[in-house]
Amino acid sequence: MYRHSVRRQFATASVLREWHQIPLAPPDKILGITEAFKEDKNPNKINLGVGAYRDNTGKPIIFPAVKKAEKKLYDNEKEKEYTAITGSKNFQDIVKNFIFNNSNKDPNGKKLIDEGRIVTAQTISGTGSLRVIADFIARFYNSKKIYVPKPTWANHVAVFTDAGLQPEYYAYYDTSKNDLDFANLKSSLQKADDGSVVLLHACCHNPTGMDLTGDQWEQVLEIIQQKKLFPLIDMAYQGFASGSPYEDISLIRRMTELAVENKIPTFALCQSFAKNMGLYGERTGSISIITESADQSKAIESQLKKLIRPIYSSPPIHGSKIVETIFNEGLLDEWLADLDKVVGRLNTIRQKLYDNLDKSNYNWDHLLKQRGMFVYTGLNPEQMKRLRDEFSVYATDDGRFSISGINDANVEYLADAINQVIKK
Ligand code: LMR
Repeated sequence: MYRHSVRRQFATASVLREWHQIPLAPPDKILGITEAFKEDKNPNKINLGVGAYRDNTGKPIIFPAVKKAEKKLYDNEKEKEYTAITGSKNFQDIVKNFIFNNSNKDPNGKKLIDEGRIVTAQTISGTGSLRVIADFIARFYNSKKIYVPKPTWANHVAVFTDAGLQPEYYAYYDTSKNDLDFANLKSSLQKADDGSVVLLHACCHNPTGMDLTGDQWEQVLEIIQQKKLFPLIDMAYQGFASGSPYEDISLIRRMTELAVENKIPTFALCQSFAKNMGLYGERTGSISIITESADQSKAIESQLKKLIRPIYSSPPIHGSKIVETIFNEGLLDEWLADLDKVVGRLNTIRQKLYDNLDKSNYNWDHLLKQRGMFVYTGLNPEQMKRLRDEFSVYATDDGRFSISGINDANVEYLADAINQVIKK
């Protein structure tokens, strides 16, 4: 008893001493930009940091279809009970049918669903799904190594490292050419350890906006088969390439086919409705694991529950109920039209930025090849610093612009600022 309390005293003392030693962490590479932007008093300031949609007046929006779904929920919702550890069955079924069965149009996806080969869990948006699958891989998979594109979303490496995985880069983009580095991409994947994990961006690669063509995907999938890599697909921007979530999903169509043929029998997909339904703060997403059999699915689902329960118990319900209402209560077409409008504005503003840029001493053609929420300008950290210090233009140091922060009122100011930092 005495020894026990002494030990506790020591433990407390050492903890207290350590509290004073905690070093200051740097601000988040992406979300920290917004904090700095808010402090800036310049009325012309522009925030091109976080990948979140703004309309042509610079304001965030709620999709009209989402507002209607919320109205229905307000009128009809009868309880706020906990949902299941892996979310509601209805939400899981919607995600499976929407993504893997292409809303009843993909026979391969349907076969996987009917055979019980897809386990879907609702998660705390895309980051939550990445963390859950990373923890799952760390716990059960025989390789801890995960190959991620260089560059990739700033948070990927942090999520995987914190989960105990060992991220390594594969070549993806050549900054000196402002283009995909496909030859090196292939050769670096060919050198990957057999049986390791590979992260693929389904569409609208973050941060570069440069995606592989169908033919290039085939070559990558060939390497994945040869090396028996486990594909982990991140799909945060479904719909932002073409305006239609059904068209942006050709990689998943091909993956379901390869899973049915047992050529790539298992893979995992992280997705969220943060961007394409504008449900950012509602934290609504999912992890799906494609398994080899219904029995495997059962075991995997039970382990996902065991993993999730001690972290956050169960996911939040408001966002998933919005998704369920949109899909099941006649709002699907309206949502698809809302999304198409959002993507249309991004494409228009991308073109306007391009039109206003001085091409006499810098080739800006890559801007028009990139797709989605971002342009990857190729500006170096020094030029980005000048944009920020001299023009109050805020974006990540890697030269990525979230173009939703651009609108008719600021596009000329921005282009002029860029032209000036390029000139000298
Ligand atoms: C981004 O890349 O800006 C978004 O995915 C938001 C985030 O959480 O980083």
